Amino acid sequence: MKKINNLYWMAALCLLFSCTKQKINVQPAGSSSAQNSKLTQSSPIGDVVGKITVGYQGWFACIGDGSPINAWWHWAPNASQQPSNSNNGIKSWPDMREYTASYQTGFSNLGNGQQPRLFSSYSDQTIDIHFKWMEQNGIDAAALQRFNPNGWEGPVRDAITNKVKIAAEAHNRKFYIMYDVSGWTDMQAEIKADWTSKMSAYTASSAYAKQNGKPVVCIWGFGFDDNNHPWSATRLSIGSKQKVVM
Ligand SMILES: *[C@@H]1O[C@H](CO)[C@@H](O)[C@H](O)[C@H]1NC(C)=O
Repeated sequence: MKKINNLYWMAALCLLFSCTKQKINVQPAGSSSAQNSKLTQSSPIGDVVGKITVGYQGWFACIGDGSPINAWWHWAPNASQQPSNSNNGIKSWPDMREYTASYQTGFSNLGNGQQPRLFSSYSDQTIDIHFKWMEQNGIDAAALQRFNPNGWEGPVRDAITNKVKIAAEAHNRKFYIMYDVSGWTDMQAEIKADWTSKMSAYTASSAYAKQNGKPVVCIWGFGFDDNNHPWSATRLSIGSKQKVVM
């Protein structure tokens, strides 16, 4: 009996060793073996693991779009004024062909003679079109960034979140909340409160990304050494009882 046991353990050890060897073989060069065995035990394919996710901000707005923010948000350095050559926050002109709702800017006409109009993320069709593009191009999920919702940006963030949910459901895509802690001094307590009181309700949506049976939440913005991130990463403690996997 003892011999059999020994044989069993030897076989088990061999198996373990060969697994370990295999693991090491698939690991990227340069990382430690302790990290490596963690890597190979990563989660199975789910709504985010093994999928393509894009960051989604939904933060463009125009004066007159009916949004609570009513400004040329992220289109112009001075958001109280039309974007123009002297008030330009645009890095590349968006493809406007599919939007029927758009807003006139102060730029001169485009090279093709068309008016220089821009979209608002607040128009219902905008986010729907973006999720349709995701569907057409094999992009599985959007990580919806959530900036400090307790200030002036809160009402528009809440509205955009609801539009993202509707569009994700309509186009069979996934979405999840990605808190962005930039400039958010009291983020530690306020993220928890916001998740509990508002955002966790979205996990009831069939489109809310789940991984390993749990809703996915991301927190973005640690590791920057600047005034917009005035804390050390050790300040973040989510707590083990919450259903947070990322
Ligand atoms: C931004 O535009 C508004 C409206 O034209 C103007 O009143 C304000 O002075 C401008 N702000 C700056 C910093 O130029």
